[in-house]
Amino acid sequence: MARALHLALRAALLSACAPPTGDAATPEEAARYLEDRAFRRETLEAALWRPDLPYSRSLLSSYGLPDGGWDRLPVQASRTAPFTRADADVLARGEALALDDAREIAVPSAPEVTGDPAGPAREPDPGADPAEATWRALGATVFDRLPMRGDAWLDWLAARPALWNDAGLSVDAVGRVRGLVRFADARGRVRVGLTCAGCHAGDGVPGRGDRRLNLGRARALYAAARGLDATALDAWGPGRVDVTDTDSDDPTAIPDLFHVGTAGWLNHSGVVRVVGRATLAIRFETQFVQGHLMQTRPERRLMWALASYVASLGIEAPPAPAPPPAFTARCAGCHDPARAYGGDLVAAEDLGVDAAVARDPERGTGHYKIPSLRGVSDNAPYLHDGAAPTLDALLAAGHPSGEAIPPAERAALLAFLNAL
Ligand code: HEC
Ligand code: HEC
Repeated sequence: MARALHLALRAALLSACAPPTGDAATPEEAARYLEDRAFRRETLEAALWRPDLPYSRSLLSSYGLPDGGWDRLPVQASRTAPFTRADADVLARGEALALDDAREIAVPSAPEVTGDPAGPAREPDPGADPAEATWRALGATVFDRLPMRGDAWLDWLAARPALWNDAGLSVDAVGRVRGLVRFADARGRVRVGLTCAGCHAGDGVPGRGDRRLNLGRARALYAAARGLDATALDAWGPGRVDVTDTDSDDPTAIPDLFHVGTAGWLNHSGVVRVVGRATLAIRFETQFVQGHLMQTRPERRLMWALASYVASLGIEAPPAPAPPPAFTARCAGCHDPARAYGGDLVAAEDLGVDAAVARDPERGTGHYKIPSLRGVSDNAPYLHDGAAPTLDALLAAGHPSGEAIPPAERAALLAFLNAL
């Protein structure tokens, strides 16, 4: 118990002042993100609290620079179409994909999205700020339809429907593959792209990390077909991806996005500190540029829309019951009831978990983020790497530090977690 309190104190120290979040943004912030490069640069610099990491260095040397940097990249056309079972047959015949049926992701005009009293063209949520409602509606479309990345292995997989089940891809009643779209790359070639929904809409619920998707298997099959060793990729297992482009192989669980709007840090190791909604927009914008190999950048309005939408994602849950004494004593110091039972960052060595991701050479901060526990019972497997298959297993292993929890307290904690 003493150790748990000590750890909670350390976590509290790291959060000396609670950071701003992405859930509340003003029309002025949208305008500044869209129009003011110096503001984007400032936001980036404030967010990358570990500027020494290669991930940070790559963004700092390219984004929001006075002479352009990534600002000079051509804007990716937003015309996309769903990728279907029939498209796979086109690829299997060795033919090129077409985009005839593609639609533009409609970008509203400036006054419409920065809060013109004349109001937006789309239907606003009842009671919501109309500009905000417009952004969110647009963001939902971006989440479903904008390709975040294209990859050679994805083009390969798309042509082989016999492997889709193995890779955890699902096909709906009209033949659309969830998360895949057709788009034209910088050179005009029609390719297959992976959307946000491809990884973050498990069971079709937007925001739910997809725990069946097995991109490690997909990439292993692709590697094997080219005579390369695929053992490490195959070991990822479903629901886990290494989103870095380095040689280190540190796959992490695809996170739920339900609490991103109130999160103080992004990613399991907290490499991005949230200093407002522009942080989210910039995280997605730079992710897009890297996912498209620095060939194109996204239309910035689409990124603000995406940030507004992702910040609004949440889950329906009844109000949490009062926590049992064991939770208050052992857990609440880190999993703060006032912050959806989430919190700040904890040094990896203070936790009984694998430290590889915290020490990842590209983006490891030495820490892990304290995740929100709202809706946690639907969220197995647990921890940044999905190492704990059930809540019971997590508590039996003495989370957070390995110190045993008496069985009676474990039962009370389990009942509480299941009701959150
Ligand atoms: C290939 C699968 C994949 C795709 C596609 C993908 N993500 Fe993620 N996302 C991940 C993984 C894995 C992480 C965890 C990365 C880490 O911790 O280093 C993550 C982390 C995040 C986070 C931080 C969550 C947190 O709790 O800290 C946000 C926000 C996010 N993704 C949003 C998006 C959006 C928006 C898109 C589309 C623009 C997208 N992602 C596309 C796999 C994906
Ligand atoms: C020292 C701070 C700290 C304390 C105290 C703490 N946790 Fe955690 N908890 C964390 C961190 C950090 C993670 C994420 C670790 C990772 O991703 O590998 C986590 C992860 C979890 C998860 C997994 C959530 C998910 O979605 O994967 C659950 C469940 C959880 N904690 C419950 C508890 C309970 C119950 C207690 C009290 C017995 C507790 N925690 C005490 C820091 C703490």
